[in-house]
Amino acid sequence: MDIQTVETGPINGQKPGTSGLRKKTKVFMGPHFLENYVQSIFDGIGGVSGKTLIVGGDGRYFNERAIQVILRMMAANGASRAIVGQNGLLSTPAASNLIRKRGTDGGLILSASHNPGGPDEDFGLKYNGPNGGPASEGVTDKIFARTTDITSYKIVEGEDVDIASTGDKTLGDMVVEVIDPVADYAALMENLFDFDAIKGLLSSGFTISFDAMHAVTGPYAKAILEHRLGAAEGSVVNATPSPDFGGGHPDPNPIWAKELMDRMHGPDAPDFGAASDGDGDRNMIVGKGCYVTPSDSLAVLAANATLAPAYRDGLKGIARSMPTSAAVDRVAEKLGIDCYETPTGWKFFGNLLDAGRATICGEESAGTGSDHVREKDGLWAVLLWLNILAQKRQPVAQLIADHWTQFGRNYYSRHDYEAVESDLANRLMDDMRTKMSDLPGTEVAGLKVEAADEFSYNDPVDGSVSKNQGLRFYFEGGGRVVFRLSGTGTEGATIRVYIERLELDPSAMQQDAQEALAPIIKAAETLSRIRAETGRSGPDVVT
Ligand code: G6P
Ligand code: ZN
Repeated sequence: MDIQTVETGPINGQKPGTSGLRKKTKVFMGPHFLENYVQSIFDGIGGVSGKTLIVGGDGRYFNERAIQVILRMMAANGASRAIVGQNGLLSTPAASNLIRKRGTDGGLILSASHNPGGPDEDFGLKYNGPNGGPASEGVTDKIFARTTDITSYKIVEGEDVDIASTGDKTLGDMVVEVIDPVADYAALMENLFDFDAIKGLLSSGFTISFDAMHAVTGPYAKAILEHRLGAAEGSVVNATPSPDFGGGHPDPNPIWAKELMDRMHGPDAPDFGAASDGDGDRNMIVGKGCYVTPSDSLAVLAANATLAPAYRDGLKGIARSMPTSAAVDRVAEKLGIDCYETPTGWKFFGNLLDAGRATICGEESAGTGSDHVREKDGLWAVLLWLNILAQKRQPVAQLIADHWTQFGRNYYSRHDYEAVESDLANRLMDDMRTKMSDLPGTEVAGLKVEAADEFSYNDPVDGSVSKNQGLRFYFEGGGRVVFRLSGTGTEGATIRVYIERLELDPSAMQQDAQEALAPIIKAAETLSRIRAETGRSGPDVVT
């Protein structure tokens, strides 16, 4: 084995964000960029000598080339085994499952999630630990520290490993085990849910449409929904993963999954629609003519989870990220279980899941999941919905309306201002931070401010503290607005504004969300001056 030690020096900008390191693909492809980061991961986790790692990605441009580099660096650093998805494919939840099932030392997931792919778009890489979840801040801090003082990396020279066919291969002294990316994941899903009940639903004339958005869930959804559960051929659309996701944004929201939204609001709408993102961890749920917000979806899943075999004995607790609506809190209250509020980022759920304090978790950013893996899981959410509908035999819109009547409706919307100049975005946040302590008791655009603070999280399991996690303003009457800067963008800053209001009057629960939230949206602008200072007339994305 020809191990080379290549001299290098620190490269700026290798600080992992909300979910690993994301950059323009060309940046990742630049000299030593990928190699420096991979070596920093290895060093940051105490080396990979004798270790086994899962390796796979969402199939975007540069996925396979990057995997070949990673494998050669693993071999050079003394790893004993790499378990790789065939053709380099693994959805994020499938990778998380494999880490846990095979008891490995973690895994490397190549994805920029819902960001577009291609030579001029985005690429990403993250390390997940032995519990299957994204590395904790403690670990990513070590990885980042290494990127700032790295002097060399190790790599083996040689031929590419054949990852197009399954089976054991060798690379120097390391075994490269190429596996079917779908099989273990499909078996896990079959364990959690009542597949017979879902089959019964799908054979009763209930129709579905799942949009894989040209991304990694295509093969998973085909195998599970069509082949195992009997959904009609063609129920899964855009099912072949492509390096640039068909030129689109593989982001399951009403804007980027417009094709599905149009179908669900058209004359031949199926009974149930869903979509997933680039790496398969996000989901969007749509009923016939009825979009379900991620926050409402989380609340409905939590309220009805016991209808699925895996959750029959009840939930230990629920967790949501702070900007997610409080709809699920009301469910937790009713069930008499704890509800945790964490910062944005799935990694913050890991400790709660490991400690058995939470069973189901979710985020407003279209992520829902449970303790079956340590990532959010798009197809899991779809299957839990189908399992619930198989028992309830109700249209989605009716299920949602009943839920609101029982628990109240948390009107909710997120407004994103994308690619704002970073200095300006930081200044706008600083301005609000400075004035927030004087606001309680005063009126903003006619709304009385009850409280205002900057969210800081004390992890109840390991005692760690995460500061500066979003600016929160609470108004009289149950309204709330939260401001934070996205940690997943690759260009400039994205300002996210999360707006919410609780409605308990059953006769006022069918309004348009933007109208129902209009007074708070106005107060948000008065507080932040985003539109005035950026010269924009409104947000780029509204969810
Ligand atoms: C990724 C993470 C999520 C997070 C989302 C939004 O998908 O896995 O946990 O909610 O990004 O993050 P952002 O920092 O862009 O709001
Ligand atoms: Zn994702």
